[in-house]
Amino acid sequence: MLFLGIDLGSSSVKVSVFDGDSGRCVRSAQHPEHELEILSPQPGWAEQDPNTWWHCVQQACAKVFEHVDPQKINAVGIAYQMHGLVLVDQQQQVLRPAIIWCDSRAVEYGEQAAQELGEQYCFEHLLNSPGNFTAAKLRWVQRNEPDIFERIDKLMLPGDFIAMKLSGEINSTATGLSEGTLWDYQQRRPANELLKHWDIDTSLLPELVPSIGKQSQVCEAAAKQLGLKAGTAISYRAGDQANNAFSLNVLQAGEIAATAGTSGVIYGVSDRPLSDTHSRVNTFLHCNDSAAAPRNGVLVCVNGTGRSFSWLRQTLGEAMPGTKITYPALNHLAAQVNIGSDGLLFQPFGNGAERILQNRNPGARLINLDLNRHQLGHWVRATQEGIVFALNMGFEVLKSLGGSCDVIRAGKSNMFLSDIFTQAFANTTGAAVELYDTDGAEGAARGAAIGSGFYASDKEAFAGLQVLSTVEPEPQLTQRYASTYAEWRKHLST
Ligand code: XUL
Repeated sequence: MLFLGIDLGSSSVKVSVFDGDSGRCVRSAQHPEHELEILSPQPGWAEQDPNTWWHCVQQACAKVFEHVDPQKINAVGIAYQMHGLVLVDQQQQVLRPAIIWCDSRAVEYGEQAAQELGEQYCFEHLLNSPGNFTAAKLRWVQRNEPDIFERIDKLMLPGDFIAMKLSGEINSTATGLSEGTLWDYQQRRPANELLKHWDIDTSLLPELVPSIGKQSQVCEAAAKQLGLKAGTAISYRAGDQANNAFSLNVLQAGEIAATAGTSGVIYGVSDRPLSDTHSRVNTFLHCNDSAAAPRNGVLVCVNGTGRSFSWLRQTLGEAMPGTKITYPALNHLAAQVNIGSDGLLFQPFGNGAERILQNRNPGARLINLDLNRHQLGHWVRATQEGIVFALNMGFEVLKSLGGSCDVIRAGKSNMFLSDIFTQAFANTTGAAVELYDTDGAEGAARGAAIGSGFYASDKEAFAGLQVLSTVEPEPQLTQRYASTYAEWRKHLST
């Protein structure tokens, strides 16, 4: 039995076909091969065209279906970049580019709402301040683009848009609304009060379907476009970070997952409604949450994670046309450099308002650059160490909320392909890093298999998940990373 997973990232769309019987991924493809553009028409803005996402889904599916018969797909699952805002009119036409997760324009609207509604309401009901999430972005549109606002029929998260293109139906999930601070945890229903406070009609919210379970089915038009059977179930949907945790079988309280793609995240599962009153870490519903067994994901996010590394590679590539600059080649240079990059420090910000910095964006910066000592390898190593240090700042907050853990699970992909990054991560956080042979697209496909009822239990579903290696912290390295981290921390004014 085959299942299709679609992972809508910020840099590309990846699709995987998963065989439920063997528990293994059969085939994957992504589109585009290079990084998808993020448009920034004004400083701090970040937009993508939802129709481009759909085009990428079609292209990635076409690549994978050169090798697999699409008619054999039994169900589809979707993972997607979180916190974005997609707006459509009554004809399901997109009204403006999506305002994506790392767009900072709405910070002041979120902060104002937090002041007006009061901290108590925000933390008791939303578990977060509205900050810069989907709801605040909607408020920005209401205040700045009233003509567009008037034409909105429904708002959606990015994954809801892909589900709409697949099924012709508009719906969302409780976990999706929670990412947008549109979910009331106390009442276990949409946070209508926040919308009413802004004089926004609650009918703009889509109907809700379960994250894992029957949501809708592939419509005739999408079936024709993709080659799938019309009527194929859509049975799983989760934001990429909840999905990453799910992919790694991180489902129970106390378990922790990490990713290091465009953004980097440490994601701890809790059965309690935890919140950081400084909003440096955020709590959203985990995809397996239910009234009987509440599950939240407490999430540390550093927007400028893989983005810092990809910026460096891309910029070097542009400076040297004709020379192929690869990540392994850069990692090789970094491996020649000592821990601590001989004093060079890098702060990986500059990709929008950083939540660990309470929504400030101080920009990325190199510190202590010694023109007589430091070379490219130092820069690469300092970049990777700096990303880890930024994540660790948030991890300290997560631990202070009671989320400590000895093991962190991650897929062996993106920054975790770098031994230096993984070593720095284990030795700075003090947790062993278990690297698995899986990724978000496979996780979404496995989710579709569970959601369509193919597996009887999670145990059965995750039986095929394989650990590739474990990187343990080593006492002598831990000390060296600790002193570099302390130095790095001194240069950050929080
Ligand atoms: C998580 C977050 C990012 C996006 C990236 O809270 O904002 O990791 O999900 O797609």
